[in-house]
Amino acid sequence: MRLVFLGPPGAGKGTHAQVLSKDLGVLHISTGDMLRDSVKAGTPLGLEAKKNMDDGKLVPDKVVIGLVAERLERPDAHMGFILDGFPRTPEQAKALDEELKMLQMPLDMALDFETSLPMIIRRLSGRRLCPKCNKNYHVHNYPPKKEGMCDVCGSTLVQRPDDRVEAIENRLKIYKEVTEPLIQYYKTSGRLVQLDGDIDVAPLNIILMNLFREKGLCRK
Ligand code: AP5
Repeated sequence: MRLVFLGPPGAGKGTHAQVLSKDLGVLHISTGDMLRDSVKAGTPLGLEAKKNMDDGKLVPDKVVIGLVAERLERPDAHMGFILDGFPRTPEQAKALDEELKMLQMPLDMALDFETSLPMIIRRLSGRRLCPKCNKNYHVHNYPPKKEGMCDVCGSTLVQRPDDRVEAIENRLKIYKEVTEPLIQYYKTSGRLVQLDGDIDVAPLNIILMNLFREKGLCRK
């Protein structure tokens, strides 16, 4: 199963990718997580990316395309993958198609999580993240068992710097201008499926599993 998850910030791409990748035994490739790991590790790439990320701007195409290509070329990508947060520009979408053609691993589907603005704001403002194992929480929807602490590794949960109001505004603007046109790109090539991203995680997960069965992508 080879999927792309599209949708605005807060659409639930990361949340659903985390659940489905475990259930289906496929890789979860999140460019946001990969970049945040580089920032944490203080690599030259991370240092370059940090300023753009904190301000809610995109990291240059060349950097992100290189990261994803390197990840897709590793043997475990052959068992299938969910790309979360990539592609985000027309250049990235074209580069992905070329890379997958070269690897003879065509994309099965691009899923677009259509999400309303009030829901986006509610989700992003309440999101908390474990800086160690990247597990996502939400103060109301998915609170940790012990307030402010990761259920998995016990680390103190943090708010992402780009979940500040000014950065959210930037991210939404960039999404509208640069990323949203990709919906048409995947529609034109017959690979798009649109879903209601406002639905809660558990029912939406059932809808997704039914969709994968219908398309013959999963027998579970
Ligand atoms: P990235 O981490 O990819 O951020 P994003 O695309 O803005 O997406 P988010 O992580 O904010 O939203 P999401 O849809 O994953 O929602 P989530 O599941 O967390 O990228 C960060 C930055 O890195 C970018 O701004 C850019 O600078 C850079 N970058 C990354 N990729 C790049 C690329 N390809 N090119 C260039 N630059 C790139 O959910 C949010 C909250 O809501 C959570 O708390 C969750 O628990 C809750 N929630 C989610 N779904 C539901 C639901 N269905 N019901 C109830 N609650 C829900």
